[in-house]
Amino acid sequence: MDPLGNPFAPGAGSQPPELAGRDHILAQADIALQRVLLGKQDRSQIMLGLRGVGKTVLLNKIEQLAENHGHIASFVEAPEDLGLAQTLYPRMAQVLRRLSAMESAKARVVAGMRALRGFAVAFKIGPLEVSLPADPEPGVADSGLLEADLADLFVRIGEAARSAGKGWALIVDEVQYLRTEELAAVIVALHRASQRGLPVVFFGAGLPQVARLAGEAKSYAERLFTFFSVGALESVSAKQAIVEPIRAGGETITSAAADRIIRETQGYPYFLQEWGFQTWKLAQRSPISEDVVERATRMALEQLDNGFFRVRYDHLTAGERNYVRAMSQLGKGPYKTAEVAGIMKEKITALGPRRANIVKKGIIYSPGHGKLDFTVPLFDEFVRREASNLDSRT
Ligand SMILES: Nc1ncnc2c1ncn2[C@@H]1O[C@H](COP(=O)(O)OP(=O)(O)O)[C@@H](O)[C@H]1O
Ligand SMILES: [Mg+2]
Repeated sequence: MDPLGNPFAPGAGSQPPELAGRDHILAQADIALQRVLLGKQDRSQIMLGLRGVGKTVLLNKIEQLAENHGHIASFVEAPEDLGLAQTLYPRMAQVLRRLSAMESAKARVVAGMRALRGFAVAFKIGPLEVSLPADPEPGVADSGLLEADLADLFVRIGEAARSAGKGWALIVDEVQYLRTEELAAVIVALHRASQRGLPVVFFGAGLPQVARLAGEAKSYAERLFTFFSVGALESVSAKQAIVEPIRAGGETITSAAADRIIRETQGYPYFLQEWGFQTWKLAQRSPISEDVVERATRMALEQLDNGFFRVRYDHLTAGERNYVRAMSQLGKGPYKTAEVAGIMKEKITALGPRRANIVKKGIIYSPGHGKLDFTVPLFDEFVRREASNLDSRT
């Protein structure tokens, strides 16, 4: 089929041709955005899920919704290296500059800029390209305690937004990379703004452990956020994600062929895109049949093995690979750390540092005490394929 017409979009954060099965999440976001603008309370939202399930795509969509409703949206990816204060600072300055165009907000914007100046000094943030036309206000956002200072800023920005008839939607991807004190500060600042009925709302996304991290950072986090589990699509939505784009592209696929894609991908969004892409590429004519999908499966797995899976695996040391290999030998996760240690014939405690490193590399996470799982769907199967390739070579 026409390669230029291939509708599928495998890739990190790529807008899928059909955003299937997420209407309930977007509807909630839409309501929260509107309520907050009306001065009503609503919960901030955090999307939790493994890699490739469509969290970033949802945040992108929410960013659009926010702007359409009259919010100023700031989309940031939590930094792995830079601090949160450094990352948020230019974005907060940008929000204030956009608000400063509104006559009704002028005074509040200046108050916000003064707070931001104090913040920059306290957190030793270098001057912006565009300087803020205000002097710091002593005692506001300048204590050097992130919790207190971020709360001052969120309140000032919320007040400025309210006087402009707007809201501020802060959108943070990869929340798991925030340090505990940074996550705590965000929670405190949101809580403060929300208590005052200010139009500030937060949307985050991250790996599943984020719910626990938020609770550990501040015990009231669970009342401040709605957590959504984002995972594989159930079969009706998964089928829609395949069938609709093909139909919109002027072609068709048999029901059996579409079902085969759902089976092979287990409904994981990233894999649906990859399978859809390869299937379209190989197909000669409509309706696309199951034997095309069978060939596409080989191509898709090859793509994943050489890309999505491989880049993660290559980050591991030999010892860490042995560890994930032991996990994969246990079949599907979650895995008990004790059982992994058993397979490796080592003590759990002796394996602690190695396990921690693999967690840090973002390949495994702990879904509960003494448990582990892969952050990437179907990774266990990849590791088993790898292991058997190795064995057949030796
Ligand atoms: N609801 C969906 N239906 C179909 N495909 C989707 C859906 N959500 C995401 N995708 C696709 O999945 C892939 C991964 O999306 P992304 O947002 O980067 O995932 P994450 O941020 O969870 O790692 C992209 O190729 C995207 O087009
Ligand atoms: Mg993402």
